[in-house]
Amino acid sequence: MKYSVIPQPRKFDVISDETVFTLTELTEIESECEKAKKSLLIFLEEKYEIEIMGTGKERIILKINPDITKSEGYTLKVSENLVEIYGKDEAGVFYGVQSLIQLLICGDLFLPRIFIEDSPRFNYRGFMLDCARYFFTKQAVMHFLDLMAVHKLNRFHWHLSDDQGFRFGSEQFPLLTEIGSRRSHTNFNTVPHEGYYTKQDMLEIIEYAHDRFIKVIPEIDSPGHAVSMIAGHPFLSCFGREMTVATSWGIKHDVLCVGKKSTYKFMCGLLDEVCEVFSDGIIHLGGDEVPSTRWELCPHCQALMKEEGMKNESELHTYYLQKIADYIKKKGLKVCMWNDTVKEKMVDRDVIWQLWNGELNNSEVANEINNGRKFIISSSEAYYLDLPYGQTSLKKTYEFNMENDGINKECKNNIMGLECCLWAEFVPSMKAAHYTAFPRFGAFSESAWTEEKNKDYGRFSQKLGNYYKVLEFYAVDPAKPSQVNPKSLKKMLSLLYWERRKLCWAGLSNFMDNRNIRKKYGK
Ligand code: ACM
Ligand code: ZN
Repeated sequence: MKYSVIPQPRKFDVISDETVFTLTELTEIESECEKAKKSLLIFLEEKYEIEIMGTGKERIILKINPDITKSEGYTLKVSENLVEIYGKDEAGVFYGVQSLIQLLICGDLFLPRIFIEDSPRFNYRGFMLDCARYFFTKQAVMHFLDLMAVHKLNRFHWHLSDDQGFRFGSEQFPLLTEIGSRRSHTNFNTVPHEGYYTKQDMLEIIEYAHDRFIKVIPEIDSPGHAVSMIAGHPFLSCFGREMTVATSWGIKHDVLCVGKKSTYKFMCGLLDEVCEVFSDGIIHLGGDEVPSTRWELCPHCQALMKEEGMKNESELHTYYLQKIADYIKKKGLKVCMWNDTVKEKMVDRDVIWQLWNGELNNSEVANEINNGRKFIISSSEAYYLDLPYGQTSLKKTYEFNMENDGINKECKNNIMGLECCLWAEFVPSMKAAHYTAFPRFGAFSESAWTEEKNKDYGRFSQKLGNYYKVLEFYAVDPAKPSQVNPKSLKKMLSLLYWERRKLCWAGLSNFMDNRNIRKKYGK
Protein backbone atom coordinates (compact mmCIF):
# COMPACT_ATOMS: atom_id res chain seq x y z
CA MET A 1 0.00 0.00 0.00
CA LYS A 2 1.81 3.11 -1.19
CA TYR A 3 -0.54 5.77 0.23
CA SER A 4 -2.46 5.54 3.48
CA VAL A 5 -3.64 7.59 6.43
CA ILE A 6 -4.07 6.74 10.12
CA PRO A 7 -6.74 7.05 11.45
CA GLN A 8 -8.58 5.57 8.46
CA PRO A 9 -10.78 8.16 6.71
CA ARG A 10 -14.46 7.46 6.11
CA LYS A 11 -13.84 7.34 2.33
CA PHE A 12 -10.35 6.99 0.87
CA ASP A 13 -9.73 6.51 -2.84
CA VAL A 14 -6.42 6.50 -4.64
CA ILE A 15 -7.69 6.96 -8.16
CA SER A 16 -4.54 6.29 -10.22
CA ASP A 17 -0.84 5.57 -9.70
CA GLU A 18 0.40 8.35 -11.91
CA THR A 19 1.86 11.42 -10.15
CA VAL A 20 -0.24 14.53 -10.76
CA PHE A 21 1.03 16.82 -8.00
CA THR A 22 4.56 17.47 -6.76
CA LEU A 23 5.12 19.71 -3.80
CA THR A 24 8.05 22.13 -4.15
CA GLU A 25 8.96 25.50 -2.72
CA LEU A 26 7.16 27.05 -5.67
CA THR A 27 3.81 25.59 -4.60
CA GLU A 28 1.29 28.29 -3.80
CA ILE A 29 -0.87 27.97 -0.68
CA GLU A 30 -4.18 29.80 -0.70
CA SER A 31 -5.69 29.64 2.79
CA GLU A 32 -8.61 30.90 4.86
CA CYS A 33 -7.36 28.97 7.87
CA GLU A 34 -4.19 30.25 9.46
CA LYS A 35 -3.69 27.39 11.93
CA ALA A 36 -4.01 24.75 9.21
CA LYS A 37 -1.63 26.62 6.93
CA LYS A 38 0.87 27.13 9.75
CA SER A 39 0.80 23.41 10.53
CA LEU A 40 1.64 22.58 6.90
CA LEU A 41 4.39 25.22 6.71
CA ILE A 42 6.00 24.02 9.96
CA PHE A 43 5.95 20.44 8.66
CA LEU A 44 7.54 21.40 5.33
CA GLU A 45 10.20 23.57 6.97
CA GLU A 46 11.10 21.24 9.80
CA LYS A 47 10.91 17.92 8.01
CA TYR A 48 11.80 18.80 4.40
CA GLU A 49 13.57 22.16 4.85
CA ILE A 50 11.22 23.62 2.24
CA GLU A 51 10.24 27.28 2.54
CA ILE A 52 7.21 27.94 0.41
CA MET A 53 7.60 30.88 -2.00
CA GLY A 54 4.55 30.24 -4.13
CA THR A 55 5.17 31.36 -7.69
CA GLY A 56 4.65 28.07 -9.55
CA LYS A 57 1.71 26.29 -11.13
CA GLU A 58 1.02 23.92 -8.22
CA ARG A 59 -1.56 25.16 -5.73
CA ILE A 60 -2.93 24.05 -2.38
CA ILE A 61 -6.31 25.48 -1.41
CA LEU A 62 -7.40 25.42 2.25
CA LYS A 63 -10.96 26.65 2.69
CA ILE A 64 -14.14 26.38 4.74
CA ASN A 65 -17.19 24.82 3.13
CA PRO A 66 -20.25 25.04 5.41
CA ASP A 67 -22.09 22.53 3.20
CA ILE A 68 -19.98 19.71 4.67
CA THR A 69 -22.34 18.16 7.19
CA LYS A 70 -20.30 17.03 10.20
CA SER A 71 -18.22 19.32 12.36
CA GLU A 72 -14.47 18.67 12.07
CA GLY A 73 -15.20 16.98 8.71
CA TYR A 74 -13.28 17.70 5.52
CA THR A 75 -12.74 16.66 1.93
CA LEU A 76 -9.33 16.38 0.29
CA LYS A 77 -8.88 16.13 -3.46
CA VAL A 78 -5.63 15.81 -5.35
CA SER A 79 -5.86 16.54 -9.08
CA GLU A 80 -3.56 17.91 -11.78
CA ASN A 81 -1.29 20.44 -9.98
CA LEU A 82 -3.96 21.05 -7.37
CA VAL A 83 -4.72 19.98 -3.79
CA GLU A 84 -8.08 21.17 -2.48
CA ILE A 85 -8.99 20.80 1.18
CA TYR A 86 -12.41 21.97 2.29
CA GLY A 87 -13.43 21.76 5.93
CA LYS A 88 -16.75 22.17 7.68
CA ASP A 89 -14.87 24.44 10.06
CA GLU A 90 -11.28 25.43 10.79
CA ALA A 91 -10.69 22.18 12.66
CA GLY A 92 -11.88 20.26 9.58
CA VAL A 93 -9.39 22.07 7.36
CA PHE A 94 -6.69 21.39 9.97
CA TYR A 95 -7.47 17.65 9.91
CA GLY A 96 -7.44 17.69 6.11
CA VAL A 97 -3.92 19.12 6.34
CA GLN A 98 -2.92 16.35 8.79
CA SER A 99 -4.04 13.75 6.23
CA LEU A 100 -2.18 15.62 3.48
CA ILE A 101 0.99 15.58 5.58
CA GLN A 102 0.80 11.78 5.94
CA LEU A 103 0.22 11.41 2.18
CA LEU A 104 3.20 13.67 1.41
CA ILE A 105 5.37 11.49 3.65
CA CYS A 106 4.09 8.31 1.92
CA GLY A 107 4.88 9.70 -1.53
CA ASP A 108 7.94 11.74 -0.62
CA LEU A 109 6.13 14.88 -1.85
CA PHE A 110 4.73 13.19 -4.99
CA LEU A 111 0.97 12.56 -5.10
CA PRO A 112 -1.38 10.73 -7.46
CA ARG A 113 -5.09 11.53 -7.85
CA ILE A 114 -6.67 10.96 -4.44
CA PHE A 115 -10.07 11.69 -2.96
CA ILE A 116 -10.86 11.66 0.76
CA GLU A 117 -14.12 12.40 2.51
CA ASP A 118 -13.80 12.28 6.25
CA SER A 119 -15.32 13.14 9.62
CA PRO A 120 -14.92 11.77 13.15
CA ARG A 121 -16.83 9.05 14.93
CA PHE A 122 -16.56 10.82 18.34
CA ASN A 123 -16.34 14.47 19.32
CA TYR A 124 -14.15 13.58 22.30
CA ARG A 125 -10.88 11.93 21.30
CA GLY A 126 -8.57 12.08 24.26
CA PHE A 127 -5.09 11.35 25.45
CA MET A 128 -3.99 11.44 29.09
CA LEU A 129 -0.38 11.99 30.07
CA ASP A 130 0.70 11.27 33.64
CA CYS A 131 3.27 13.96 34.42
CA ALA A 132 3.13 13.28 38.15
CA ARG A 133 4.93 9.93 38.40
CA TYR A 134 7.66 11.24 36.14
CA PHE A 135 7.93 14.85 35.11
CA PHE A 136 7.82 15.45 31.36
CA THR A 137 9.36 18.74 30.24
CA LYS A 138 7.38 21.46 28.46
CA GLN A 139 9.03 20.43 25.18
CA ALA A 140 8.09 16.78 25.74
CA VAL A 141 4.48 17.74 26.41
CA MET A 142 4.45 19.84 23.24
CA HIS A 143 5.84 16.89 21.30
CA PHE A 144 2.90 14.82 22.51
CA LEU A 145 0.53 17.58 21.41
CA ASP A 146 2.08 17.46 17.93
CA LEU A 147 1.51 13.71 17.89
CA MET A 148 -2.08 14.12 19.06
CA ALA A 149 -2.70 16.47 16.13
CA VAL A 150 -1.20 13.98 13.66
CA HIS A 151 -3.64 11.37 15.01
CA LYS A 152 -6.60 13.81 15.02
CA LEU A 153 -7.01 13.63 18.80
CA ASN A 154 -8.53 16.72 20.39
CA ARG A 155 -8.58 16.47 24.21
CA PHE A 156 -5.41 16.55 26.28
CA HIS A 157 -6.06 15.28 29.82
CA TRP A 158 -3.13 16.43 31.90
CA HIS A 159 -2.60 14.37 35.07
CA LEU A 160 -0.82 17.00 37.17
CA SER A 161 -0.79 15.53 40.64
CA ASP A 162 -0.32 12.20 42.34
CA ASP A 163 1.29 10.69 45.42
CA GLN A 164 4.75 10.88 43.83
CA GLY A 165 4.72 14.47 42.60
CA PHE A 166 2.75 17.71 42.38
CA ARG A 167 3.32 19.57 39.10
CA PHE A 168 0.91 22.56 39.09
CA GLY A 169 2.84 25.69 40.13
CA SER A 170 0.50 27.33 42.64
CA GLU A 171 1.22 30.90 43.74
CA GLN A 172 -1.10 30.64 46.74
CA PHE A 173 0.41 27.43 48.07
CA PRO A 174 4.10 27.43 47.07
CA LEU A 175 4.86 24.43 49.31
CA LEU A 176 2.84 22.28 46.91
CA THR A 177 5.78 22.46 44.55
CA GLU A 178 8.65 23.51 46.86
CA ILE A 179 8.09 20.27 48.74
CA GLY A 180 5.55 18.35 46.69
CA SER A 181 7.29 18.39 43.30
CA ARG A 182 10.43 16.65 44.60
CA ARG A 183 11.13 13.15 45.76
CA SER A 184 14.36 11.84 47.16
CA HIS A 185 14.44 8.68 45.04
CA THR A 186 12.24 6.23 43.19
CA ASN A 187 11.71 2.67 44.43
CA PHE A 188 15.14 1.14 44.89
CA ASN A 189 17.35 3.77 43.29
CA THR A 190 19.02 6.81 44.88
CA VAL A 191 18.27 9.39 42.20
CA PRO A 192 16.21 12.45 43.23
CA HIS A 193 13.43 13.42 40.84
CA GLU A 194 11.66 16.77 40.53
CA GLY A 195 9.87 19.20 38.25
CA TYR A 196 6.77 21.34 37.90
CA TYR A 197 5.12 23.71 35.46
CA THR A 198 4.93 27.42 36.17
CA LYS A 199 1.78 29.27 35.16
CA GLN A 200 3.71 30.67 32.21
CA ASP A 201 4.68 27.12 31.13
CA MET A 202 1.08 25.95 31.37
CA LEU A 203 -0.26 28.95 29.45
CA GLU A 204 2.28 28.31 26.69
CA ILE A 205 1.29 24.65 26.53
CA ILE A 206 -2.40 25.57 26.39
CA GLU A 207 -1.79 28.01 23.54
CA TYR A 208 0.25 25.37 21.71
CA ALA A 209 -2.63 22.92 22.16
CA HIS A 210 -5.21 25.43 20.93
CA ASP A 211 -3.17 26.02 17.79
CA ARG A 212 -3.74 22.31 17.14
CA PHE A 213 -7.47 22.31 17.99
CA ILE A 214 -6.80 20.49 21.25
CA LYS A 215 -8.60 21.38 24.48
CA VAL A 216 -6.74 20.90 27.73
CA ILE A 217 -8.34 19.24 30.77
CA PRO A 218 -6.25 19.54 33.93
CA GLU A 219 -6.53 16.93 36.65
CA ILE A 220 -5.79 17.53 40.32
CA ASP A 221 -6.45 14.13 41.85
CA SER A 222 -8.07 13.99 45.31
CA PRO A 223 -8.96 12.89 47.93
CA GLY A 224 -6.72 9.88 47.16
CA HIS A 225 -3.40 10.03 45.29
CA ALA A 226 -2.62 13.15 47.32
CA VAL A 227 0.51 12.35 49.36
CA SER A 228 2.51 15.00 47.47
CA MET A 229 -0.01 17.62 48.68
CA ILE A 230 0.08 16.32 52.24
CA ALA A 231 3.90 16.44 52.23
CA GLY A 232 3.95 20.25 52.41
CA HIS A 233 0.62 20.56 54.25
CA PRO A 234 0.28 17.87 56.94
CA PHE A 235 -3.00 19.42 58.19
CA LEU A 236 -4.61 18.01 55.02
CA SER A 237 -4.29 14.45 56.30
CA CYS A 238 -6.13 12.55 59.01
CA PHE A 239 -4.13 12.80 62.26
CA GLY A 240 -1.97 15.55 60.66
CA ARG A 241 0.51 12.92 59.56
CA GLU A 242 3.93 14.23 58.56
CA MET A 243 4.80 12.60 55.27
CA THR A 244 7.33 12.86 52.49
CA VAL A 245 6.46 12.67 48.81
CA ALA A 246 5.93 9.00 47.94
CA THR A 247 8.93 7.19 46.51
CA SER A 248 7.18 3.97 45.55
CA TRP A 249 4.12 3.15 43.46
CA GLY A 250 0.81 1.64 44.51
CA ILE A 251 -2.31 2.87 46.27
CA LYS A 252 -1.52 4.89 49.39
CA HIS A 253 -3.70 4.82 52.49
CA ASP A 254 -2.94 8.41 53.51
CA VAL A 255 -5.56 10.42 51.66
CA LEU A 256 -7.02 13.86 52.35
CA CYS A 257 -8.93 14.18 55.59
CA VAL A 258 -12.40 15.02 54.33
CA GLY A 259 -13.81 15.57 57.82
CA LYS A 260 -12.04 18.92 58.30
CA LYS A 261 -13.33 22.22 56.89
CA SER A 262 -9.74 23.32 56.29
CA THR A 263 -9.34 20.62 53.62
CA TYR A 264 -12.29 21.99 51.62
CA LYS A 265 -11.01 25.56 51.99
CA PHE A 266 -7.58 24.53 50.74
CA MET A 267 -8.87 22.52 47.79
CA CYS A 268 -11.28 25.26 46.70
CA GLY A 269 -8.47 27.84 46.87
CA LEU A 270 -6.19 25.61 44.81
CA LEU A 271 -8.91 24.87 42.27
CA ASP A 272 -9.62 28.63 41.92
CA GLU A 273 -6.08 28.93 40.60
CA VAL A 274 -6.41 25.89 38.35
CA CYS A 275 -9.61 27.32 36.84
CA GLU A 276 -7.91 30.66 36.20
CA VAL A 277 -5.16 29.00 34.14
CA PHE A 278 -7.22 26.41 32.24
CA SER A 279 -9.90 27.93 30.06
CA ASP A 280 -11.41 25.00 28.16
CA GLY A 281 -14.41 24.45 30.41
CA ILE A 282 -13.73 21.01 31.97
CA ILE A 283 -11.85 20.25 35.18
CA HIS A 284 -10.96 16.68 36.14
CA LEU A 285 -11.17 16.02 39.88
CA GLY A 286 -9.72 12.50 39.96
CA GLY A 287 -11.55 10.74 42.77
CA ASP A 288 -10.12 7.26 42.08
CA GLU A 289 -8.67 4.60 44.37
CA VAL A 290 -9.44 5.92 47.85
CA PRO A 291 -8.91 3.47 50.74
CA SER A 292 -11.02 4.37 53.77
CA THR A 293 -8.50 3.04 56.32
CA ARG A 294 -7.68 6.45 57.84
CA TRP A 295 -11.23 7.80 57.66
CA GLU A 296 -12.47 4.83 59.70
CA LEU A 297 -10.29 5.95 62.63
CA CYS A 298 -10.21 9.72 62.18
CA PRO A 299 -12.37 11.65 64.69
CA HIS A 300 -13.01 14.48 62.17
CA CYS A 301 -14.14 12.13 59.41
CA GLN A 302 -16.28 10.11 61.81
CA ALA A 303 -17.84 13.26 63.31
CA LEU A 304 -18.84 14.52 59.85
CA MET A 305 -20.34 11.15 58.96
CA LYS A 306 -22.42 11.22 62.13
CA GLU A 307 -23.50 14.83 61.61
CA GLU A 308 -24.62 14.14 58.03
CA GLY A 309 -26.17 10.75 58.81
CA MET A 310 -23.86 8.85 56.45
CA LYS A 311 -23.97 5.07 56.57
CA ASN A 312 -20.39 4.37 55.57
CA GLU A 313 -17.11 5.78 54.26
CA SER A 314 -18.21 5.23 50.68
CA GLU A 315 -20.85 7.90 51.28
CA LEU A 316 -18.17 10.14 52.78
CA HIS A 317 -16.16 9.76 49.57
CA THR A 318 -19.17 10.80 47.52
CA TYR A 319 -19.93 13.68 49.91
CA TYR A 320 -16.45 15.13 49.43
CA LEU A 321 -16.47 14.76 45.64
CA GLN A 322 -19.95 16.30 45.39
CA LYS A 323 -18.90 19.34 47.48
CA ILE A 324 -15.82 19.96 45.33
CA ALA A 325 -17.76 19.32 42.11
CA ASP A 326 -20.44 21.81 43.18
CA TYR A 327 -17.75 24.41 43.76
CA ILE A 328 -16.42 23.98 40.22
CA LYS A 329 -19.90 23.83 38.67
CA LYS A 330 -20.78 27.17 40.27
CA LYS A 331 -18.10 28.68 38.08
CA GLY A 332 -20.01 27.45 35.03
CA LEU A 333 -17.51 24.66 34.32
CA LYS A 334 -18.04 20.96 33.68
CA VAL A 335 -16.59 18.36 36.01
CA CYS A 336 -15.12 14.99 35.12
CA MET A 337 -14.08 12.19 37.50
CA TRP A 338 -12.68 8.69 37.30
CA ASN A 339 -15.35 6.10 37.79
CA ASP A 340 -14.13 3.25 39.98
CA THR A 341 -17.41 1.67 40.87
CA VAL A 342 -21.07 2.40 40.64
CA LYS A 343 -22.06 2.91 44.24
CA GLU A 344 -25.29 3.24 46.13
CA LYS A 345 -24.78 7.00 46.56
CA MET A 346 -23.18 8.69 43.61
CA VAL A 347 -22.26 12.22 42.58
CA ASP A 348 -24.93 14.05 40.56
CA ARG A 349 -25.49 12.94 36.99
CA ASP A 350 -24.12 16.14 35.48
CA VAL A 351 -20.63 14.96 36.47
CA ILE A 352 -18.93 13.21 33.53
CA TRP A 353 -17.46 9.82 34.35
CA GLN A 354 -14.29 8.44 32.87
CA LEU A 355 -14.81 4.70 32.90
CA TRP A 356 -11.54 2.86 33.38
CA ASN A 357 -12.03 -0.39 35.19
CA GLY A 358 -15.52 -1.44 34.24
CA GLU A 359 -17.11 -2.31 30.97
CA LEU A 360 -20.19 -0.90 29.38
CA ASN A 361 -22.10 -4.16 29.52
CA ASN A 362 -22.26 -3.66 33.27
CA SER A 363 -25.99 -3.00 33.72
CA GLU A 364 -25.42 -0.34 36.37
CA VAL A 365 -23.19 1.63 34.03
CA ALA A 366 -25.75 1.24 31.25
CA ASN A 367 -28.37 2.53 33.67
CA GLU A 368 -26.29 5.64 34.35
CA ILE A 369 -25.86 6.28 30.63
CA ASN A 370 -29.54 5.70 29.94
CA ASN A 371 -30.36 8.20 32.65
CA GLY A 372 -28.25 10.94 31.21
CA ARG A 373 -24.76 10.67 32.61
CA LYS A 374 -22.03 11.39 30.08
CA PHE A 375 -19.15 8.92 29.83
CA ILE A 376 -15.65 8.83 28.43
CA ILE A 377 -14.35 5.30 27.82
CA SER A 378 -10.78 4.54 28.91
CA SER A 379 -10.85 0.79 29.38
CA SER A 380 -7.66 -0.05 31.27
CA GLU A 381 -7.53 -3.37 29.42
CA ALA A 382 -7.30 -1.81 25.99
CA TYR A 383 -6.45 1.88 26.30
CA TYR A 384 -3.81 2.02 29.06
CA LEU A 385 -0.79 2.42 26.85
CA ASP A 386 1.72 1.70 29.60
CA LEU A 387 0.63 -1.92 29.95
CA PRO A 388 3.04 -4.47 28.47
CA TYR A 389 2.35 -5.69 24.94
CA GLY A 390 2.06 -9.20 26.39
CA GLN A 391 -1.07 -8.04 28.20
CA THR A 392 -2.44 -5.47 25.77
CA SER A 393 -1.26 -6.29 22.30
CA LEU A 394 -1.59 -3.89 19.41
CA LYS A 395 -4.38 -6.08 18.05
CA LYS A 396 -6.23 -5.98 21.36
CA THR A 397 -6.08 -2.18 21.52
CA TYR A 398 -7.26 -2.01 17.92
CA GLU A 399 -10.08 -4.49 18.22
CA PHE A 400 -11.47 -3.40 21.56
CA ASN A 401 -15.09 -2.55 21.06
CA MET A 402 -17.27 -1.19 23.79
CA GLU A 403 -20.20 -3.40 24.49
CA ASN A 404 -23.34 -1.45 23.95
CA ASP A 405 -25.73 -3.99 25.41
CA GLY A 406 -28.39 -2.36 27.50
CA ILE A 407 -27.76 1.17 26.28
CA ASN A 408 -30.76 2.74 24.60
CA LYS A 409 -30.17 3.97 21.08
CA GLU A 410 -31.11 7.54 21.91
CA CYS A 411 -28.72 7.51 24.87
CA LYS A 412 -25.69 6.37 22.88
CA ASN A 413 -24.59 9.96 22.47
CA ASN A 414 -24.04 10.06 26.23
CA ILE A 415 -20.83 8.23 25.37
CA MET A 416 -18.81 11.33 24.58
CA GLY A 417 -15.84 9.44 23.24
CA LEU A 418 -12.65 7.57 24.04
CA GLU A 419 -9.43 8.41 25.81
CA CYS A 420 -6.15 6.51 25.93
CA CYS A 421 -3.92 6.95 28.98
CA LEU A 422 -0.19 6.92 29.44
CA TRP A 423 0.44 6.26 33.13
CA ALA A 424 4.08 6.84 33.90
CA GLU A 425 5.10 4.65 36.83
CA PHE A 426 7.35 2.72 34.46
CA VAL A 427 7.84 5.46 31.88
CA PRO A 428 10.79 7.53 33.10
CA SER A 429 11.80 8.93 29.70
CA MET A 430 10.53 9.88 26.28
CA LYS A 431 12.27 6.80 24.89
CA ALA A 432 10.21 4.57 27.19
CA ALA A 433 7.09 6.61 26.40
CA HIS A 434 7.57 6.10 22.66
CA TYR A 435 8.14 2.39 23.02
CA THR A 436 5.05 1.76 25.06
CA ALA A 437 2.67 4.26 23.44
CA PHE A 438 3.48 3.63 19.77
CA PRO A 439 2.11 2.06 17.63
CA ARG A 440 -0.85 1.52 20.02
CA PHE A 441 -1.54 5.27 19.84
CA GLY A 442 -2.33 4.79 16.13
CA ALA A 443 -4.60 1.83 16.84
CA PHE A 444 -6.43 3.84 19.48
CA SER A 445 -6.83 6.82 17.15
CA GLU A 446 -8.59 4.59 14.66
CA SER A 447 -11.18 3.65 17.28
CA ALA A 448 -11.68 7.26 18.30
CA TRP A 449 -11.95 8.69 14.77
CA THR A 450 -13.06 5.87 12.44
CA GLU A 451 -16.55 4.35 12.55
CA GLU A 452 -16.52 0.84 14.02
CA LYS A 453 -17.84 -0.68 10.80
CA ASN A 454 -15.00 0.90 8.83
CA LYS A 455 -12.25 -0.51 11.07
CA ASP A 456 -10.19 -3.41 9.80
CA TYR A 457 -7.14 -4.78 11.63
CA GLY A 458 -5.81 -6.45 8.47
CA ARG A 459 -5.79 -3.13 6.62
CA PHE A 460 -4.32 -1.38 9.68
CA SER A 461 -1.44 -3.91 9.70
CA GLN A 462 -0.79 -3.21 6.03
CA LYS A 463 -0.56 0.51 6.79
CA LEU A 464 2.11 0.03 9.47
CA GLY A 465 4.99 0.54 7.01
CA ASN A 466 3.73 4.01 6.09
CA TYR A 467 2.80 4.72 9.68
CA TYR A 468 6.32 3.98 10.92
CA LYS A 469 7.63 6.40 8.31
CA VAL A 470 5.29 9.09 9.65
CA LEU A 471 6.42 8.35 13.21
CA GLU A 472 10.05 8.62 12.14
CA PHE A 473 9.32 12.07 10.71
CA TYR A 474 7.96 13.04 14.10
CA ALA A 475 11.04 11.68 15.89
CA VAL A 476 9.18 8.80 17.52
CA ASP A 477 10.94 5.51 18.11
CA PRO A 478 8.07 3.01 18.40
CA ALA A 479 8.05 -0.64 19.47
CA LYS A 480 8.91 -2.87 16.51
CA PRO A 481 6.12 -4.73 14.74
CA SER A 482 7.71 -7.97 15.97
CA GLN A 483 7.25 -6.80 19.60
CA VAL A 484 3.65 -5.61 19.63
CA ASN A 485 1.68 -8.86 19.36
CA PRO A 486 3.87 -11.26 21.36
CA LYS A 487 2.97 -14.94 21.52
CA SER A 488 3.73 -17.70 24.06
CA LEU A 489 7.25 -17.31 25.49
CA LYS A 490 7.65 -13.63 24.58
CA LYS A 491 4.22 -12.90 25.97
CA MET A 492 5.02 -14.67 29.22
CA LEU A 493 8.35 -12.83 29.58
CA SER A 494 6.62 -9.52 28.91
CA LEU A 495 4.08 -10.27 31.65
CA LEU A 496 6.75 -11.45 34.08
CA TYR A 497 8.76 -8.28 33.52
CA TRP A 498 5.61 -6.25 34.17
CA GLU A 499 4.94 -8.03 37.44
CA ARG A 500 8.13 -6.52 38.87
CA ARG A 501 5.88 -3.60 39.73
CA LYS A 502 4.56 -5.60 42.66
CA LEU A 503 7.99 -5.19 44.24
CA CYS A 504 7.48 -1.43 44.13
CA TRP A 505 4.01 -1.40 45.56
CA ALA A 506 5.04 -0.68 49.11
CA GLY A 507 2.72 -3.44 50.26
CA LEU A 508 4.78 -4.09 53.37
CA SER A 509 5.11 -0.43 54.30
CA ASN A 510 1.34 0.06 53.90
CA PHE A 511 0.81 -2.93 56.15
CA MET A 512 3.18 -1.67 58.86
CA ASP A 513 1.82 1.89 58.68
CA ASN A 514 -1.76 0.71 58.98
CA ARG A 515 -0.87 -1.50 61.96
CA ASN A 516 0.90 1.36 63.77
CA ILE A 517 -1.96 3.77 63.18
CA ARG A 518 -4.50 1.25 64.38
CA LYS A 519 -2.42 0.76 67.52
CA LYS A 520 -2.18 4.48 68.19
CA TYR A 521 -5.65 5.71 67.24
CA GLY A 522 -7.85 2.61 67.13
CA LYS A 523 -10.25 1.75 69.90
C1 ACM B 1 -6.77 4.82 37.52
O1 ACM B 1 -6.21 4.05 36.75
N1 ACM B 1 -6.52 4.75 38.82
C2 ACM B 1 -7.70 5.82 37.06
ZN1 ZN C 1 -9.99 12.51 58.60
